[in-house]
Amino acid sequence: MVESISVIGAGTMGNGISHVFARHGFKVSLIDISQTQLDSAIDLISKNLERQLLKNIITDEIKKAALKNITVFTSLQTGVRHADLVVEAVAERIDLKLKIFKQIDEAAPPNCILATNTSSISITKIASATRRPQQVIGMHFMNPVPVMTLIEVINGYSTSKNVTQEIIEISKKLGKIPCVVNDYPGFIANRILMPMINEAIYSLYEGVAGVEEIDTVMKLGMSHPMGPLQLADFIGLDVCHSILEVLFDGFRNPKYAPCPLLTNMVNAGSFGVKRGEGFYKYIKGSKELVVSERFK
Ligand code: CAA
Repeated sequence: MVESISVIGAGTMGNGISHVFARHGFKVSLIDISQTQLDSAIDLISKNLERQLLKNIITDEIKKAALKNITVFTSLQTGVRHADLVVEAVAERIDLKLKIFKQIDEAAPPNCILATNTSSISITKIASATRRPQQVIGMHFMNPVPVMTLIEVINGYSTSKNVTQEIIEISKKLGKIPCVVNDYPGFIANRILMPMINEAIYSLYEGVAGVEEIDTVMKLGMSHPMGPLQLADFIGLDVCHSILEVLFDGFRNPKYAPCPLLTNMVNAGSFGVKRGEGFYKYIKGSKELVVSERFK
């Protein structure tokens, strides 16, 4: 039975994933090389649990128990030693993921399932860095993790049926809805989402409409909670760019080529929310959405 979870990487996704496991009674070891990153992750998890408490989604007891369920580690080897399931949520770099999966494979117990939260890198390729490819699977959470109900479960070429079933059951215990897909570039979520975002950026680049108009059409016309340009800022333009590159390389099809405007923005470091500017400008503490000066 899966009881003890190790989450690797305490960034946006890692802290959301830890939050959800801990809040549903799992023991979580949150691992990151940076103690500062771990401290800010715990701080954010506490704030997000408080948000849920104020909305009566959880009780004070659940909040306190969730925080008690999380232990932080700066050593991967120590943090995965007793894990039943490891969920990796480090940066979307294949070299890094391969290195980390090799280390997890060497340090985690033999029965431990190794999951990756990758948004587009091949599960089969990641599994090739381990001696247990049948126990490697994709567990793709959506941001913000405590709010979004989907988990895209991705079967690698060698993933065993038992492992898939175990991950389906764990996802349900988290109050999420698992959806099983196969390991091809972008899986399903990003194979469909990223071309839409890229097309929105092309529409801006070609002068068909402005930032607000593009987002308003999709928000009001299709009932999307955020327009595609705001969503791109929220996901991170660097992340969108790298997922499009994976689609482009994986299918060798020019329809996935990132729009040159997106490439320019990424080269300029204009990554969206995390850098304070993308298609919109983000002012700390303000919820107002202001279009970047460049696109006015
Ligand atoms: N933790 C806990 N609760 C949170 C939260 C967090 N991190 N972030 C937001 N919330 C809660 C808020 O408390 C609020 O709760 P109530 O509905 O009970 O009031 C609710 O979520 C809505 O939040 P806000 O009022 O702050 O703002 P909003 O109404 O504008 O919603 C949003 C924010 C949930 C992010 C919404 O805009 C949305 O759903 N956007 C689209 C998100 C999306 O598409 N995510 C997928 C991105 S793709 C991805 O992640 C995968 C990939 O591979 C790229």
